[in-house]
Amino acid sequence: MVNPECIAPLREELQAALPTGQCTTPDVMNQCPKLESFMREILRLHGTILYGSSRLVIKPVHIPSLGRTFPPGSILTLPWYWMSRDQDLYPNPDEFDSHRFYDESSGGCTARVTTSSDKFLGFGYGTSTCPGRFMASRVVQTVFTKILLDFDVTCMPGGQELPFNIFSSAFFMTNTEIEARIRPRAGKM
Ligand code: HEM
Repeated sequence: MVNPECIAPLREELQAALPTGQCTTPDVMNQCPKLESFMREILRLHGTILYGSSRLVIKPVHIPSLGRTFPPGSILTLPWYWMSRDQDLYPNPDEFDSHRFYDESSGGCTARVTTSSDKFLGFGYGTSTCPGRFMASRVVQTVFTKILLDFDVTCMPGGQELPFNIFSSAFFMTNTEIEARIRPRAGKM
């Protein structure tokens, strides 16, 4: 809807991976690195949290890179929103680049949407990494694939100008004020 140029390459990839008439399966998804990259880029720019992986210090902890010792009772947290927009980690960080995690030369993705690291906190990191991320990403991919292949979705007038996300007490939520028109694609009814 907001990045219509992404649609054709994703449809092409899915159609090539899907045998005629077959529904999407986890196996089909594994053959779609552009879709994987697209989903990861959405999580990078439109993740749900401002900061995460918070920890309560229970005995003094020294962090050499900061040159500081934190006393018990301190809360340490990771600034995911700012990290995901850090240009040392992501060139042109404010740009939505659906191929950011797609490697043209190998034809694969550089990281799965579910791969967590100290530079990618969309599903948290460490011992509290989201255990539901495999299921969540499969469900989202499956629903998104169905919409992509069978429907055309466009923003209703004025929708493009509205903020994509609404921020509320450290969480980002989808802006439900944005209205869309959904039409079955030719031959899909
Ligand atoms: C796209 C959907 C989802 C996103 C973006 C997401 C994101 C996250 C993030 C960022 C954390 C880490 C929070 C932190 O450490 O500060 C987390 C933790 C967690 N998530 Fe998810 N999650 C999703 C779906 C799910 C689903 C479907 C389930 C369960 C079926 C789930 C269960 C959990 C649980 C139990 C934790 C806490 C893990 C712990 O503290 O040990 N999540 N999630």
